[in-house]
Amino acid sequence: MEDIRKLIVGNWKMHGLKSALDEVDRLAELCSRGEPKADILICPPATLLSEMAKPCADAGFLVGGQTCHHKLKGAYTGEISAEMLKDAGATHVILGHSERRLYNGETNEQVKAKAEAAIEVGLIPIICIGETRMERDSGQAVAVVSQFLAGSIPDEIEDFVVSYEPLWAIGTGLVPSPGEIAEIHMAIRQRVGGDIPILYGGSVKPDNAERLLSIANVNGALVGGASLKADDFYGIIKAA
Ligand code: PGA
Repeated sequence: MEDIRKLIVGNWKMHGLKSALDEVDRLAELCSRGEPKADILICPPATLLSEMAKPCADAGFLVGGQTCHHKLKGAYTGEISAEMLKDAGATHVILGHSERRLYNGETNEQVKAKAEAAIEVGLIPIICIGETRMERDSGQAVAVVSQFLAGSIPDEIEDFVVSYEPLWAIGTGLVPSPGEIAEIHMAIRQRVGGDIPILYGGSVKPDNAERLLSIANVNGALVGGASLKADDFYGIIKAA
């Protein structure tokens, strides 16, 4: 179980113009100094995906999307399909990030349908789940996360990734205690079985990455802010 290869994901969110390709070059240069012990996946804005696919492939990095539509094609103005992501070079797609659940009203049912679309075209979904501060304080964190899992993960699915991201830890500099993370990751592990990577996300930085990545059943990290600068992101990759 613990020999799952670590996966470090950079979620650039709505950041990154063409100049961000310089960060990919810089990261490639940093990573070329030694064989990274983790898989590295960058999820840029969709506009950069095609252009980043080649330099990332050359450097041994994977690229992924930040969401996709649940239909494979059709009259859905402004949307992007799983097949389009795949066509642009993506191997993975982040689904159900709390920002999408919050600002776009994404439900478990929709996340599940999107995951089904992703699988259909051969993308690996990274399904995000996590509790609010209030839910944690009232002792419901494990129950909430279990509910998200039950609702968001398709029944017929073999290859996927789960990312535990407490909402109150995202972009705040706050991080749950190692015991709190271990408890949630164990609950997820019991549900998803032994081979599925379980990531932790929420204020992962170079100075806490080693501690977070050494917690039982933490098989990698989903990194927001600290993935935008190659030197910071490399600090996290090194810790893996
Ligand atoms: P953060 O974001 O690293 O900036 O806290 C994490 C996330 O949104 O997944």
